[in-house]
Amino acid sequence: MSIVLLGGSPSPQSSCSRLLLHIGEKLALHGHRTARLEVRELPGPALLRADTADPELARAVALVRDADALVVATPIYKASYTGILKLFLDLLPQDGLAGKLVLPIATGGSQSHLLALDYALRPVLASMWPRSILPSIYATSEQVGQDSAAGLRLAPPIAVRVADGVDQLAAELQALAARAVARESRRTAPIAA
Ligand SMILES: Cc1cc2nc3c(=O)[nH]c(=O)nc-3n(C[C@H](O)[C@H](O)[C@H](O)COP(=O)(O)O)c2cc1C
Repeated sequence: MSIVLLGGSPSPQSSCSRLLLHIGEKLALHGHRTARLEVRELPGPALLRADTADPELARAVALVRDADALVVATPIYKASYTGILKLFLDLLPQDGLAGKLVLPIATGGSQSHLLALDYALRPVLASMWPRSILPSIYATSEQVGQDSAAGLRLAPPIAVRVADGVDQLAAELQALAARAVARESRRTAPIAA
């Protein structure tokens, strides 16, 4: 199954992109195809004009359209998700998440806005008809450390949340794939006389 890793941080040294990448690597170990999509790498003027005819934006929207699942990552800015993430989500059609699974993740400066994903981002995602939105994963930037030698260092409670989130998404994708196979075999089965 194919999964888009959608990153909504304007920062190139992003803790939430690090977490997103880590989750993508874990999902790849389950046999899924992952594709990274960082909103900050899309053309800014086209994003501001919501110009879906722009070839790069059109490609990004098509990547989401063709995915089975999305991991949507954002830093918390002003008690909410980032403006650049909203610019991209606004390009998607009203049913742009139909049939898809979504795992929201965020990093914040403290625990103060732990619920921001649930009160701010989740309703926006839900408005685009996803199959389901999994429980959110929230970490402070300190809990997502980077070590030049050892690489990503997740605080133990976050490592547990990430493992649970990855397992749940992988299990739901597997169930989705099994349902698609069963549907296809019913469609192609010979009709008994
Ligand atoms: C403009 C701005 C606004 C922020 N507002 C909040 C906030 O309201 N609550 C919070 O917990 N952290 C806030 N932060 C801190 C970031 O959420 C935190 O540093 C995050 O881990 C950055 O993620 P990134 O490295 O992926 O960009 C803010 C940071 C910036 C730059």
